[in-house]
Amino acid sequence: MKIQKLQAREILDSRGNPTIAVRAVAENGFNAEAMVPSGASTGVHEAHELRDGDKNRYGGTGVLTACKNVEELIFSAVKDLDIMNQRAIDEAMILLDGTENKSKLGANAILAVSLAVARLAAQVQGVELYESIRRGFRFSASEYRLPYPMMNIINGGVHADSGLDIQEFMIVPQQQQLSERVRAGAEIFHALKDILKKQKQVVSVGDEGGFAPHLRSNEAALEAIVEAVTQAGYTLGQDVCIAFDAAASEFFRDGQYAFDGKMLTAQELIAVYDAWIEKYAIISIEDGLAEDDWDGWQMLTKQLGGRIRLVGDDLFVTNVKRLQQGIDRGVANAILIKVNQIGTLTETIDAIQLAQQYKYTVIISHRSGETEDTTIADLAVAVNAEYIKTGSLSRSERVAKYNRLMAIEHYVA
Ligand code: PGA
Ligand code: ZN
Repeated sequence: MKIQKLQAREILDSRGNPTIAVRAVAENGFNAEAMVPSGASTGVHEAHELRDGDKNRYGGTGVLTACKNVEELIFSAVKDLDIMNQRAIDEAMILLDGTENKSKLGANAILAVSLAVARLAAQVQGVELYESIRRGFRFSASEYRLPYPMMNIINGGVHADSGLDIQEFMIVPQQQQLSERVRAGAEIFHALKDILKKQKQVVSVGDEGGFAPHLRSNEAALEAIVEAVTQAGYTLGQDVCIAFDAAASEFFRDGQYAFDGKMLTAQELIAVYDAWIEKYAIISIEDGLAEDDWDGWQMLTKQLGGRIRLVGDDLFVTNVKRLQQGIDRGVANAILIKVNQIGTLTETIDAIQLAQQYKYTVIISHRSGETEDTTIADLAVAVNAEYIKTGSLSRSERVAKYNRLMAIEHYVA
């Protein structure tokens, strides 16, 4: 079955910025739509998001050129290909673009088509998206495992004006059932709200739905979370663990790290992390150091890699070449997977399969600018990802993914 039509339109993401939605129509009239997310703390090695640059529309951030690329250039390149052959369709777009970072057609244009085709393929086969992805990319697992969410309940860095250096403070509920993990997360989120209110903090939320309080230090955020876990009736380190995304590229200045008002070397920052692991039941640190600080990352991995997950996000940008470098240099032991960092589903799966082959933990992730599209929930289930990062327990573009995961658990697992 072939694609009869690709329709692209400009929509808004959760920050009110334009992004792209694509509807793919099959010859039999079936159709499916996908929407593309957008980051704020983007890695320098990410695929290129094409923006119009026309200052008269959305301050230059419109995506009408990307939409046009979908309907004209991309459609011509994929219209004769089989909807079921995701790899061929993605490769045709990569070839047509011809650049390393998809800057000609736009990774946003390419990804929207890639994901819409994936959804359409599931429809045409009459199966769920996660099933179709698992089959299509020949994953050998027969059982479906629901991921453990890393829930970002305090937002800092460039996602909030909280003044916190660390971008995401996350809880990782350990309950057997996914729906119970979601419940624990929501209960702790509400307990945290009460605690922050008592501290006379603002309880408005940041881009990923977590609170954005003006706390005196990064450690004060960890303390508040520990208190919330206890107040909600859970035991830290047993029922609930903690993870954080430092997004350290954002506070890396001239070879040092601007952290809690001090300039630290990589070694000094690692020592801070080290002291927190036991104290706060930390199980995972993402982008603990900057995206091109490979030497620092090597030290970090040597010192902490045996105890916790060290996750490369800006470091690996869902790119098999960067991941392979990491594997070769003994850097990190987990990878954050973001579909729009690389720009096609096929390349995303390639990164996941390489990670799984080398026993790197896979964490599927949203972006800080999201939509109601829930593809990443299905992706996490399709590949049996250990973790998913999809924000806090507020803002519907975050909660939509939890609700989709709970639906999958309810009907399937
Ligand atoms: P971003 O943040 O979507 O703004 O890049 C998410 C992350 O760093 O994990
Ligand atoms: Zn990150």
